[in-house]
Amino acid sequence: MGPHKVFVCGATGLQGGALARQLRALGWEVHTITRDTGSAAAQALTSIGVTVHQGSWSDSAALSAALAGCDGLFLNLVPDMTNPPAEFDDGKTVLAAAQAAGVQHVVYSSGLALPPMPADHFMTVVFKPKLDLEQALQTAGFPRWTVLRPGYFMTNLVAPKVHMLYPGSAESGLFTFAFRPTTELPMIDHEDIGKFAAAALQRPDEFHEKVIDVVSESVPVARAVETMRRVTGRSGIRAEYVEGEALQRAAAANPLLVLQGLLRDVPSLGDAAAAARKWGVETARFEQFVERERGEFDATYRNV
Ligand SMILES: NC(=O)c1ccc[n+]([C@@H]2O[C@H](COP(=O)([O-])OP(=O)(O)OC[C@H]3O[C@@H](n4cnc5c(N)ncnc54)[C@H](OP(=O)(O)O)[C@@H]3O)[C@@H](O)[C@H]2O)c1
Repeated sequence: MGPHKVFVCGATGLQGGALARQLRALGWEVHTITRDTGSAAAQALTSIGVTVHQGSWSDSAALSAALAGCDGLFLNLVPDMTNPPAEFDDGKTVLAAAQAAGVQHVVYSSGLALPPMPADHFMTVVFKPKLDLEQALQTAGFPRWTVLRPGYFMTNLVAPKVHMLYPGSAESGLFTFAFRPTTELPMIDHEDIGKFAAAALQRPDEFHEKVIDVVSESVPVARAVETMRRVTGRSGIRAEYVEGEALQRAAAANPLLVLQGLLRDVPSLGDAAAAARKWGVETARFEQFVERERGEFDATYRNV
C-alpha cells in the first residue's frame, strides 16, 4: 500500500491540479503550497478537501509546516527564465523539507531529454536544473523515487498556455512554426501526467528507481493543426513553417522558435509512447483531448 498523505507541488496548476484531484478522488489526504491562497484555483482545491498552505518553494518554514506527516511528494517546479538556477534551488529546498518530514516516495515530474546542444546554449542552461534535480533526487536517500519525463503538453495549444508559447496565434488562428509539418510532437495530456504520478504513488515498489518518458502519442505538427481545425470546425486554424531568414525575423517576436528550430528534426518518439503504455495507465490521444476540451478551444479561438 502506498502513501496516503501527499504533498503536491503546483496543485493550482495543470499537472499538479490533475494529480491533486485524482488523489482526492481516491480518498487520499493532499497538501499543497501556493503563493496566493485566495486565487480561484486555490479555492477550488480547498472545496474538494485539499489543504492549501500559503507560501512558496523557497520558504523552508512554510514547507516544513505543509509537509509535516506527508509520506509522498509530487515534485513539480517551473523554470525561471530570468534566473534558471532558481529552479534547482527551489527543488533542493523542497527535497530537504520532504526529507526532514520523513517522506518515503518522491515522484518528480521533470521533462523529456533535449537533443545534445552546446553547454552554453540558453536551452541547455534552462533545462539543466531539471537534470540536476533528477540526479539530486536519485542520490538523496529517499526510500522510493520515480522520475517522470513528460513530453509536449497537449494543453500548450489552448489558453492559457498558447498565449505564452505561440503569441498571437489564438487571435489570428495562424501558427508560425520552426518545426517541420512532419516533426512529431511527443504529446501528453496533463491529466495523464497526473494518472502516471497517481499510479506511481499507488505502486511504489514497481515505480521505484524508474525514469519514464511520459508520452501518449507522437503527432506530426500538421496533423495536430488539422485535428484542431476539424474537431472545432474553425477553418481559420492553420500553420506556416519558417526557416532561414524568415525564422530569424519570427524569432525576434517569439524566441521559443529557436527551440523549435533545434527540435525540427528530432527522431520520432513513437517508441516512448509504446513503452509508456506498458505501465497500464490509460492515456488520451490528441483528438480525444480536443474533443474533451472543446469548450476551451472554442473560447480560445473564438475569432477564427
Ligand atoms: N508545457 C510543456 O509542454 C511541458 C513539457 C514538459 C515539462 N514541462 C514542465 O512542466 C512544469 C509546469 O507544469 P504545469 O504546466 O502543470 O504548471 P502551471 O500550470 O504553469 O502551474 C504552475 C504552478 O506552479 C506554482 N508555482 C510557481 N512558482 C511557485 C513558487 N515559487 N512557489 C510555489 N508554487 C509556485 C503555481 O502556484 P501559484 O501560482 O498558485 O503559487 C502553479 O500551481 C514546468 O517545469 C515545465 O518545464 C512542461
